[in-house]
Amino acid sequence: MVRIPEETITRIREASDIVDVVSQYVQLKKSGQNHFAHCPFHDDKTPSFSVNEKKQIFHCFSCGRGGNVFSFLQEIEGVSFPEAVIKSAEIAEVEIDEKLVEQTYQSRPSGDSRYGKLLEINEKTQAFYHHVLMNTQVGEAAYDYLIARGMTKETIEEFKLGFSPPQRNALKLYLDNQEELDQSLFPQTGLFSDRDDGQLLDRFSGRILFPIRDDKGNTVAFSGRIFEDPNRETTGDKPFHSAKYVNSPETELFNKRRVLFNYDKARASIRREGEVYLFEGFMDVISSWQAGIKNGIASMGTSLTNEQVQLMDRVTNKVVIAYDGDQAGLDATKRATEYFLDQTHFDIDIASFPEKLDPDDYIKSRGKEAYNEFLIHGRDTFMSFLMKYFRAGLNLKNESERLAYIEKVLKEMTVVSSPVERELYFNQLASEFDVSQDTLKEQFQQYLMETQKNRTKELKQRQEERQAENKAPAVSRQNRVKRTTTEQAEKMLLNRLFYHDEVWYTLQGLSYEFSFPDEHYQILYLLYESYFKDKGEHNVEAFLDFIKDPEHKKKATEIFWMDLGEELVPGEIEDYIDMLSNRSPLVTKLESKREELKAAERSGDKQKQTSLTIEIINLNRQLKAAKEA
Ligand code: GTP
Ligand code: MN
Repeated sequence: MVRIPEETITRIREASDIVDVVSQYVQLKKSGQNHFAHCPFHDDKTPSFSVNEKKQIFHCFSCGRGGNVFSFLQEIEGVSFPEAVIKSAEIAEVEIDEKLVEQTYQSRPSGDSRYGKLLEINEKTQAFYHHVLMNTQVGEAAYDYLIARGMTKETIEEFKLGFSPPQRNALKLYLDNQEELDQSLFPQTGLFSDRDDGQLLDRFSGRILFPIRDDKGNTVAFSGRIFEDPNRETTGDKPFHSAKYVNSPETELFNKRRVLFNYDKARASIRREGEVYLFEGFMDVISSWQAGIKNGIASMGTSLTNEQVQLMDRVTNKVVIAYDGDQAGLDATKRATEYFLDQTHFDIDIASFPEKLDPDDYIKSRGKEAYNEFLIHGRDTFMSFLMKYFRAGLNLKNESERLAYIEKVLKEMTVVSSPVERELYFNQLASEFDVSQDTLKEQFQQYLMETQKNRTKELKQRQEERQAENKAPAVSRQNRVKRTTTEQAEKMLLNRLFYHDEVWYTLQGLSYEFSFPDEHYQILYLLYESYFKDKGEHNVEAFLDFIKDPEHKKKATEIFWMDLGEELVPGEIEDYIDMLSNRSPLVTKLESKREELKAAERSGDKQKQTSLTIEIINLNRQLKAAKEA
């Protein structure tokens, strides 16, 4: 475990700007005092994530996550606290001891955890496959194949592609000789296929290997593409049908719902370009990369999962769907687009490839420049894509098919809100099918009315449902209001405590031991106490690092977030205390006056002593009267 000296941490914290750091991951929009964005930590439809520059904290009003610059990096990069500190130093360009950086990163996949050991085996495997492809005779044909497909040596190296020898025990033999590896874990790596006799046989033998990395750049799985070696005699025992791609099974490292091919490498440029290209295949991502499109990812041949969309959501809100131009690709495009439009807040463009080409074919047949040009200027909106989609497979010379087509398009157009865009489609339809625009518009109006009627119905129904739900809990809602007032007082008192040292002394000076009714706030109070006693100063940000439990961190951030104004209002603290300690306000007031009197005696302020004594006598009298009443 690395320990970064406290003063280094402070130096880095002070040099870091949370707005700068967060901006590397999400697009912040400034509004008033704060900066807003869609929360990078969950699928967030409205921008509920906010950064407070002055207080140097972030907070999501929807999922509750919050913290300071280090907490943000820890969460978004999935790293340890020391790693987040180093990362922060890198972003803020703070110079720190090289050794510290090294130590921090070395302890990375914490060498002796099970996770770290599995990663180590994957790294070795990747190095082995890559070596076979680049430097051995066994890998030569596969290497030539990739080059013939247009890949450069640099690209092969960049993506650490590999080849697995056809002998099914080659990987096992190699790994057996790597002494630092934990051999007992081999069966759990997914690298081998199970066999009844317990022998470990390479799952990927004879295939071209694509390492699959997680969002942190760790190789967590492999995908192996079939490769027919033209120089090898096909032996009889080869399975007749073998899949084009074989992937690692799910393992402790690999959850395919959470992985997007190339996300780790593409992330920075996705953020820079403000959009991400979503491709169907690895080859498409890699050829696009080579053609200069660095912000491409692929979902590994399956449909997108929520987890994958969340990964994308961390860095952008625009997706360009660039699936293959064949029927399967068009169907997948329609599905993906509808999913994005219905379920997320992403903006969508579609690059639909002509003549059944896929991106890789396109680059090969028309070149890099044409490809870049197509990706930027050849895009479709959802509607123009749909027009292409509906027409695929139709014979538009046939009168009834033609009518059906026009009808479909007009119906879909009812969701297009831009009049200019509508006009464009009317134009297209009119000129292509030689119908008058007026006729089209008339028909369109009819559809529009129908859909609007349906929508009104739906809305009404939903409203009624909501009203029905609201009737029942009227009583409990009142309770809730009551409860929040106590809670508010707890939060306000803690906020004041965190930002004003004197509140600490007020609480300590009470004649009884003050505690917060809610245990969460009490814990924060106790944490603050031990922090304060340890450090002897109040430093909100350092305190956040002191809190380790994420739930407590959330609550603390919420409290830091409150804006109660700079200055304490006279009597404010006493009011909170009264409310929370369930004691007569007079008693509290009396006690605090006594404290003040003691202070006045110490400082020798005679005038203050006199006025305080009078106040105390009066308070005593009131208290007595109250008791007698
Ligand atoms: P090339 O044929 O080498 O150009 O590969 P490609 O990337 O163009 O593959 P294709 O368009 O056929 O498929 C797209 C993606 O679907 C691939 O990258 C794989 O992730 C996935 N895929 C294709 N075939 C299979 C298969 O047989 N099994 C599995 N599990 N996935 C496949
Ligand atoms: Mn292909």
